[in-house]
Amino acid sequence: METVVNPRVLVNEEKIRERVKVLGEKITNEYQGKKLTIICILKGCIPFVADLIRNIPIPFKVDVIHASSYINTKSSGKVNIHSEPLLNLKGRHVLLIDDILDTGKTLSIISTRIHEKHQPESIKFCVLLDKPSRRTENIFADYAGFEIPNSFVVGYGLDFNEYYRNLPYIGILNSDQC
Ligand code: IMP
Ligand code: MG
Repeated sequence: METVVNPRVLVNEEKIRERVKVLGEKITNEYQGKKLTIICILKGCIPFVADLIRNIPIPFKVDVIHASSYINTKSSGKVNIHSEPLLNLKGRHVLLIDDILDTGKTLSIISTRIHEKHQPESIKFCVLLDKPSRRTENIFADYAGFEIPNSFVVGYGLDFNEYYRNLPYIGILNSDQC
């Protein structure tokens, strides 16, 4: 029997909706008239990217990369990249989208790889959540939805052991719930 508990609300649905709209406006202004390819880092960014791209009314392409690093609530410290982008990124402005910027390893490793293998014109980062207190890499988000404290969060794409991705809000799991 698989059971889940209700996490405590950290960011509610309305706040997420409002903030995603603002991020969409900023991205629209920056990439107007540029060759933009948005790359989503699966699986955590699925709800975020689905909402975000509908707030960016300019032409762009979308691709995906599948990566993972977490075991339960701890970063394994090793980022596994399970797939490559399929589109040609040469000369394109790439916007990498992830659910959360934590240690920074995921975005750092993926962006280095894209720079080396795909020769894009530029790479920038957009994340829904930023946990700056956990950063080990010299990396910052060009677009960030919310800065959050050092708690393990779930919902709106973020998981604990693959559950909770369908929660419509961002919630905090207590240590006795993990
Ligand atoms: P980083 O490589 O340490 O920056 O971690 C990024 C990845 O770790 C994210 O894409 C998430 O999949 C995962 N992650 C980091 N913090 C959390 C969290 O609080 N809840 C769920 N997943 C997280
Ligand atoms: Mg993720």
